[in-house]
Amino acid sequence: MRLTLLRQAAFFPTRGRLAAVVRNFKQFSARRRNPLKRDGPLGMTRRMRRAHILGVAHYVPSRVVTNEDLSKIMPTSDDWIFQRSGIRERRFIEHSGIGASDLAVPACKQAVERAGRDLADVDAIVFATLSPDVMFPGSGVLLQNKLGLESVPALDVRNQCSGFLYGLSVANAWVQSGAYDNVLVVGSEVHSTGLDFTERGRAVAVLFGDGAGAALVGVSPDPEKGIRSVKLHSDGSGAEELWIPAPMSKNEPRITHEMLDQGLQYPHMNGKQVFRWAVEKMPEVAREVLADTGLTVADIDVFVPHQANLRINQFVAAALDIPEHKVVNNIGRFGNTTAATIPIGLSEAFEAGKLENATVLSAAFGSGYTWAGALIRF
Ligand SMILES: CC(C)(COP(=O)(O)OP(=O)(O)OC[C@H]1O[C@@H](n2cnc3c(N)ncnc32)[C@H](O)[C@@H]1OP(=O)(O)O)[C@@H](O)C(=O)NCCC(=O)NCCS
Repeated sequence: MRLTLLRQAAFFPTRGRLAAVVRNFKQFSARRRNPLKRDGPLGMTRRMRRAHILGVAHYVPSRVVTNEDLSKIMPTSDDWIFQRSGIRERRFIEHSGIGASDLAVPACKQAVERAGRDLADVDAIVFATLSPDVMFPGSGVLLQNKLGLESVPALDVRNQCSGFLYGLSVANAWVQSGAYDNVLVVGSEVHSTGLDFTERGRAVAVLFGDGAGAALVGVSPDPEKGIRSVKLHSDGSGAEELWIPAPMSKNEPRITHEMLDQGLQYPHMNGKQVFRWAVEKMPEVAREVLADTGLTVADIDVFVPHQANLRINQFVAAALDIPEHKVVNNIGRFGNTTAATIPIGLSEAFEAGKLENATVLSAAFGSGYTWAGALIRF
């Protein structure tokens, strides 16, 4: 026993010195990788890394479905759809067998390329969707496999229209903390296989489209630029105002012929109620991120709202006093692609050169209810 203690006493100083050398080396290399990271007493990070969207891209299927096309399969009209939602057309997958993870692949590859990175640099995935390829596993692991990323973690986010901003908040925290360096945040949806194209479902079926968007979130090379604030909210009292009730694990069996006959496998929405909440909560959360960053509406160059309805976005922009030319609205061409609307909007804004040195505000509201806002300086 005494011999062991003697050995330990002799060993400890050496082990302590060795640990200090290893610690110092790790801190030195972390600082080299990221000049923002400075370790204070007790190893506490005094100033965290700033995360940024380094690249953003989108992908939509080639099949264009116009309001006119829909009016051939159910009682609706271009007039009705356009007047109420601003939608003229949307994209649907070309054929059965294409899932949300498939649409995400080209969007992710391009986002990584635009970030000037390789797929091998990606060290985590956050996949937001309300239309996963299958009930389980999540679409994140399917995407991980399709991108050939070796064993990186894949997290699925189920926050519907706010899903991308929820995912962005996770990636932001991971990158800031140093847990991961390059996180793919994906929003991807295939709605067209799950809509009720009969008179019963027409109020919902005309609104949705398929598509994907992706952003690579990594360490901001410039401390002045990057994700400045992300705010998230939910209120489950509104869960049944916009939902797909079946299949449901609380019921045995999870789905019955009777449920199918009732159309419970399709989205059900209390449109007027959702509209009322959206026009209240989106400006509210937008003001919250502005207050958090000390900025005002006058500082905003580009507003990228979720695309549920053009009228909602016009209300929200008016409530915030954001002029129309600063608002990205593409619902006319894509419909509501839920978790994908914001990365698609960001990607189109990037392609139009609007993100360069821009201060960008984003806000979303959707099923849950969930709502979220973000402010990013490009
Ligand atoms: C869905 C929405 C466009 C419906 O607009 P609305 O003015 O509320 O329309 P209503 O549901 O009251 O329907 C009005 C009439 O049009 C009919 N109608 C519904 N869908 C129709 C369609 N696709 N084509 C033609 N007529 C339709 C209804 O049957 C109803 O007829 P009735 O008056 O004879 O009963 C609107 O409520 C909305 O945009 N809500 C928010 C949606 C949203 O944001 N969803 C996603 C959240 S992320």
